[in-house]
Amino acid sequence: MIDCHNHTLPGIDDGAHDTDMALSMAQCAASDGIETIVCTPHHLNGVFTNSRTKILKAVLELRTRLAEAGVPLQLVPGSEIHLVPELPSKILEGDALTYADRGRAALVELPKHTVPTGAEAILEQLLYQNVTPIIAHPERNSELLRHPDRLSEWASWGCKVQLTGQSCTGDFGLHIQKQSRAWCQAGHVHLIASDAHRPKGRAPSLTKARDTLALWVGDVAAEVLTVGNPNNLVHGEPVSDIQAVAPARRFRREWLTRLLRSN
Ligand SMILES: [Fe+2]
Repeated sequence: MIDCHNHTLPGIDDGAHDTDMALSMAQCAASDGIETIVCTPHHLNGVFTNSRTKILKAVLELRTRLAEAGVPLQLVPGSEIHLVPELPSKILEGDALTYADRGRAALVELPKHTVPTGAEAILEQLLYQNVTPIIAHPERNSELLRHPDRLSEWASWGCKVQLTGQSCTGDFGLHIQKQSRAWCQAGHVHLIASDAHRPKGRAPSLTKARDTLALWVGDVAAEVLTVGNPNNLVHGEPVSDIQAVAPARRFRREWLTRLLRSN
């Protein structure tokens, strides 16, 4: 699996405090079957400022430490950029880091409770610049939970949607889990990531979420959300919509397959 949103880089935001904690998180990710993580520290959120050059340097340093410690995990640079009016220009100027520094897609973070005035204009500007906005964990935004069609509209424009794995598994409550399921089954979700901040609790693991997704949308779509699409992001390729298979239909198909095999 590829984890396309996490805060493993040490001492750079509210994620890993130091290198030891970062190594512990990396070990946890590798043990969970994650082969690659995209390091996405916060940028422009009013608390943390992590420029492209700062993140690229931090990724190089952590790669060295992982190699020394023998942790089998690939690191890719990225950032989680707050939805601010200057976001599009910061990308053009090379200040804000896009996925794998390819200039093709950017992880965009909303405030926790609101959608800022002018959000749509910022997203449209990014799309106009051929930078695909990846909306980070919309299921944890109060305004989008009240008005889920607003996210569906953004998805219809070409924005892509990343949910947090723990939202799907119910760790953030039933309301968030139900909306996550509804968006997944409507085909509005493209990526699942850990958004890990710690080795425990907010940990870098995706297996449990992938198992939940398989029940919601089928094994193939769950694989696209946790492997195929994150891999495309890392390589600068388009992220695809999933073909969600409703459980009832899937079980009927599996039953029919078994019946045909037995004859
Ligand atoms: Fe995050």
